[in-house]
Amino acid sequence: MEKLVKAEVMWPTTTLAIHLKDSKELNAGLARIIREKEQEILGKHKPTLVAGIKQGLTAYWLEFNVLNWDYPEIAEFRKIVLDGIRETFKVQGQNPDDPGMQIVGISCWANVLRYGEFLEVHHHDPSYISGHYQVQTGYGPGEAPDESEGGQTVYFRPGFLDRSHGGKAAGQTSPWDDDWRVSVTPVEGKLFFFPSYVRHEVRPYLGKHERISIAMDIFVKKQEALMYFGGPRWFVPGKVPTPARRAMPVGK
Ligand SMILES: [Fe+2]
Repeated sequence: MEKLVKAEVMWPTTTLAIHLKDSKELNAGLARIIREKEQEILGKHKPTLVAGIKQGLTAYWLEFNVLNWDYPEIAEFRKIVLDGIRETFKVQGQNPDDPGMQIVGISCWANVLRYGEFLEVHHHDPSYISGHYQVQTGYGPGEAPDESEGGQTVYFRPGFLDRSHGGKAAGQTSPWDDDWRVSVTPVEGKLFFFPSYVRHEVRPYLGKHERISIAMDIFVKKQEALMYFGGPRWFVPGKVPTPARRAMPVGK
């Protein structure tokens, strides 16, 4: 009997990690650009509360898009991101050239965490997949990460937090529950993609430097999201970025 076998993706938690070798120069450039932009953006816009953060660049994530910045390092990073998204779709068993998988918008921002700062447990739904790239771990340059310096990203197994509210419906625990969370120590040059519904947090960062990462949310056509993918928050592949709004002249 002939069989028709086709991957149908619903909610598996397939993730993809890309480690860039020799990314030192790129990371130094990205860190420099992010610090420059941080000064510029912090002075100009109103913060939005996100993952417990009210201050710093993360709180301004709706006001800018890293992928729209005009620097050679960003152009290189943009290409790495777009290639990575295609690879992620493939390992999920999807065809990146399927019209439904067309990227309709990417939101992309930077996080700079300083001593004592953290990101509370959150997810990125309704985005389709999300990603983060570690520009700088914040641990001593060239030194091995020290666990006591914190800053790990912890991913929670989908469903676990909901079930763990307790009560009879919570059911029995089992050895399977050993993997209810996965703690990952940041590594510079690592780009990681995951389904946006996966909850995660960043543990308090206690290092001496700055923990810098770039995060992104990717929306695809088949989601039929009722969103406007224009303005400063969005990068749309193949589309020229929206120029910064200019003040209308007043009077004559
Ligand atoms: Fe996040």
